[in-house]
This record gives sequence, structure tokens and C-alpha cells, in this order.
Amino acid sequence: MVLPPGDKATRWAALQKLVMENPVCRAHVRPGKKVVLGVGNLDAKIFFCGEAPGAEEEIQGEPFVGPAGQLLTRMIQAMGLKREEVYIGNIMNWRPEIPTEHGGAQVGNRPPTPEEMKYCLPYLREQLAIVQPAVIVALGATAAGGLLGADTFKTLGEIRGRWNQFAGIPVMVTYHPSYILRNQSNRSKRAIWEDLLKVMERTGLPISEKQRGFFL
Ligand code: URA
Repeated sequence: MVLPPGDKATRWAALQKLVMENPVCRAHVRPGKKVVLGVGNLDAKIFFCGEAPGAEEEIQGEPFVGPAGQLLTRMIQAMGLKREEVYIGNIMNWRPEIPTEHGGAQVGNRPPTPEEMKYCLPYLREQLAIVQPAVIVALGATAAGGLLGADTFKTLGEIRGRWNQFAGIPVMVTYHPSYILRNQSNRSKRAIWEDLLKVMERTGLPISEKQRGFFL
């Protein structure tokens, strides 16, 4: 993939055009639904990486705008940031399809296959090359597997909360926000929050005593 030379905004716009016009990506979305590229601040220090668009995301054409996205936005705010200050992307640029009868609406989601992730990964790499974040936060096992290799761990618990690397960039793996939607305990919230505290420390964000004590 060769993007035209230029500033970050020029390169990102060229990348967006490439992805939106990609016939393979387009062939995977149903009529009226959208291919989805990441969004956010092209100078962001923190790059959140999820799995794939869901129902709401393929309607709006933006990652993390459904229920899990609203929780991610609150997590970002708890870090003292605005959603617009970070970059939010996914491994996948389309919602992995589940066959429906007579072209009806898709109910539910499925994880992407390794082949699907491999196809979309160059687009994620380009977004990372443009943004050059200080840290990637991989949300959930699929994102972690896509970035670090699914064969490098058995359970998310093994790798979350520790620093890894992708394309020379430090990666913090943590739970996907949808896990918290299913497990509303303070213990689960604290686990994800401790991972985010490490990200805040690494990126030099101020941390108040109140923030240190969230969900204890
Ligand atoms: N879950 C993801 O992993 N990505 C999204 O964009 C939305 C939900």
C-alpha cells in the first residue's frame, strides 16, 4: 500500500478513500451498511484497537459507537481525556457477516477469522504509521490475537496488564468493554482500570488519588 506523501491528514484521507473503495471490503457489507475505518486525533498518544464493527458501527461508519463504544468513551473520560483526544480503530474494517434468511437484518456478531484479520491488518498498520501513537491498547482477545498472534497466548488473563509490542509500539492488552457490560462487578472494572492506569503512567497523564482509587 502506497499513500501519497504529505501531512498526516492528507495521508489519512488517502487511506480512508482506499479502504472505502476497496472492493473486498465493500463486498462484505450489506446494502446500506458501511465499511469502517478508525477515527480520532491523528496526533493521539493512545490508540485503542478493538475487534470489528458491530451493528451500530456499520450503520454510522464509526468504530465503538454502540453500547461497548459508549462504555469505552466513559473509560477514556475516566482517564481525564476526551474521546476526540485519542484514536480509536479496529482490526477489521467490516462487520463479520452471519448468514441471514432472505437478506434479513443480522442479529449478533461473530469473531473475525484469521484470514479476515490478515486481510485488514495492513489498514491498521497504515493508521498506526500515520498516528505514531506512544501506546496501543488492545481491547479483548481478538484484538490481542490479531496484533500479537493468536498462538502467543491461551487466555486473555495470561497477557493482559503486561506490555507487549506491535510494529515497535508498546501494546497494553486489556479486556474488551463488552466484557464489562457482561460482568458489572467492581473486580472486573478494577482489572481493566489497573491496565489503563499503566497506560496513563506510560503516556505521562496526570493521575489523581481519586483516579488511583477507582473501583477499589
Ligand atoms: N466492538 C469492537 O471491537 N469494535 C467496535 O467498533 C465496536 C464494538
